[in-house]
Amino acid sequence: MDRKPVSVGVIGAGGWGKNLIRNYFELDSADLRWVCDLDAKRRGQVQGQFPARFETANVDDLFQDPELEAVVIATTAPSHYPLARRALEAGKDVYVEKPFTLSVEHGRHLVDLAERLERVLMVGHLLEYHPVVVKLKEMIDGGELGDVRYIYGQRLNLGTIRGDENAMWNFAPHDISVILYLLGRAPTDVSARGQSYLQPGIEDVVFLSMNFADEVMGHVHVSWLDPHKTRRITVVASERMAVFDDLESTEKLKIYDKGAKVNTDYDTFAEYVGLRFGDITIPYIRSSEPLRIECEHFLSCIRERTTPKSDGLDGLRVVDVLEAASRSLANNGAPEALRGAVS
Ligand SMILES: NC(=O)c1ccc[n+]([C@@H]2O[C@H](COP(=O)([O-])OP(=O)(O)OC[C@H]3O[C@@H](n4cnc5c(N)ncnc54)[C@H](O)[C@@H]3O)[C@@H](O)[C@H]2O)c1
Repeated sequence: MDRKPVSVGVIGAGGWGKNLIRNYFELDSADLRWVCDLDAKRRGQVQGQFPARFETANVDDLFQDPELEAVVIATTAPSHYPLARRALEAGKDVYVEKPFTLSVEHGRHLVDLAERLERVLMVGHLLEYHPVVVKLKEMIDGGELGDVRYIYGQRLNLGTIRGDENAMWNFAPHDISVILYLLGRAPTDVSARGQSYLQPGIEDVVFLSMNFADEVMGHVHVSWLDPHKTRRITVVASERMAVFDDLESTEKLKIYDKGAKVNTDYDTFAEYVGLRFGDITIPYIRSSEPLRIECEHFLSCIRERTTPKSDGLDGLRVVDVLEAASRSLANNGAPEALRGAVS
């Protein structure tokens, strides 16, 4: 049975918003109804390439349009909460870019509001839709790597310096969401250290560490002041190790059959720890644009009235970590317990 396309309005036609606009323009299951940006030049640019039915600088035009079903918010982080709140109150299904909100309190409010109004609420944790991350999750859950010991993410570059949020709030939601997704649980405590070299009070580089139950660790290094562009997530497990390098064009996931085991039966110290150096394998993973998969998922959740994989609670878990990490940053790296925003 043919279904009517979902009508979508995108707020924010900036560097990232235009990618969302392109996808909703191209997808048959979507009807790109509105593009909204305060900046007329940016609106003009996207309207030239991926025209929506209507354009505006005023978000009220979207909220007051009874024909509009879904609002996609791709503005800068401080406006996520007020815009998402108004969109939900207007009865729209809502997608919010990462970081979901800038506080647990605001995130919790949006989650409760969406639940009460029975609206779909999805957060743009893009990497949870990346075919490589999905494959890694399958391998971990299927026991193919053994017990996960620690996971670390590196998201580094020189540039894309922002003045409205630090490198942690800007980049780390990606790595935190992946680590929580792969482990299927939230950390018990978080610590973070960073420095602001370019703008007072806005950290350019942050080292964030998370402790999980069973001695599992997560670590995230983010920086926009680094010589190397790096987008890498490494999983070290008891049987195998995995590296996801998103800058590789085709061989993005490598599985290393490497490990170390403590032997109970040994005569010399050299025999106490046995190292294993095995093959490196590259699983075949069909490539497709993660953003397209994410947009299709949002549309399908709207049509089927189902809960997105990266729903408001998923967003809230990540904000809980970021908020605790901010307290730790302000407290010279002291460990901070999570507020337990989500069980
Ligand atoms: N998922 C990803 O991989 C990814 C990548 C980059 C950015 N992002 C996220 O996307 C969001 C946007 O980032 P960006 O790099 O495109 O920022 P940007 O500054 O380039 O663009 C933001 C746009 O929003 C518009 N805007 C702000 N407030 C508005 C309002 N009230 N009404 C209408 N328009 C408004 C601005 O005019 C601007 O054009 C951020 O939350 C960012 O973290 C996600």
